[in-house]
Amino acid sequence: MATIYDVAKRAKVSIATVSRVLNKKDTVAEKTSAKVKKAVEELEYTHNMVAAALVNKKTNTIGLLIPDIANPFFAEITRGVEDMSSLNGFNIIICNTDYGLEKEKEYIELLQQKGADGLIIASTSSQNEAILKLIKADYPLVLLNREIEGLEEGMAVDSVVSDHVKGGYLATKHLLDLGHKRIAALLGPEQIKLNRLRGEGYRQALAEKGVLPTDELIMYGEFKIDSGYRRGLELLRRLGHPTAFFAANDLIGVGIIRAAKELGLQVPENVSIVGYDNTVLAQIVDPPLTTINQ
Ligand code: RIB
Repeated sequence: MATIYDVAKRAKVSIATVSRVLNKKDTVAEKTSAKVKKAVEELEYTHNMVAAALVNKKTNTIGLLIPDIANPFFAEITRGVEDMSSLNGFNIIICNTDYGLEKEKEYIELLQQKGADGLIIASTSSQNEAILKLIKADYPLVLLNREIEGLEEGMAVDSVVSDHVKGGYLATKHLLDLGHKRIAALLGPEQIKLNRLRGEGYRQALAEKGVLPTDELIMYGEFKIDSGYRRGLELLRRLGHPTAFFAANDLIGVGIIRAAKELGLQVPENVSIVGYDNTVLAQIVDPPLTTINQ
């Protein structure tokens, strides 16, 4: 069986150069890289990644933690993470945390043990000891679509976020502009800060039009179709039910459409709904869902 030494000898380069080519480092001239690749092919050399990781102290692996890949929003995000990782010679390990703090903590530990070079996390809660620990330890980390609470002075983390207050504001303003006054806000879990922010945007839009928010029309719940359906049913069965809904994601919005239909209400004639995320679901549901693009 050929070794890395054989490849170096055949290609007439150093072992370090072979290693750089195999680890997809772009510091090797194209001509040299081609010679190495030819030698690898001729000798049918198989790169031992475990051995390489030991030498380089790098696994070229990124751990991606998301709550649920069945939510098309996270499926699309995962695609983006994978494409960019692959372009840069990295592999990803995808972990679904199911909105469970304990599961998330276990995955973080497991990925560290496996030597992941860094983590990308869309956390299940904004209060998260495991993540604060990573930040304190200076572990390579990017928070995706999430913020973290409880950062001490001097602590910082990179995050990719959008303006959730503005999103909630735009959704609610759209409904107000259509003439609605009794607008419900069906948010996701309260422990994920973005839901409080989207709720703040909802309140801002109401205040701008002089509409007083009604506490019973603002509900936290799960980011799931069933949660939108159950909360939708509950509100739509009430006398003087809301005529419009701001749903904090498309899954919740689809659930509300289902509840309205079940009660014989027409969407949008009797009930208007705005979702969030602009996922493929918004286009395929009947009727299509107006939605906020993140
Ligand atoms: O956790 C799910 C939600 O968080 C998504 O649907 C999206 O709105 C994101 O911000």
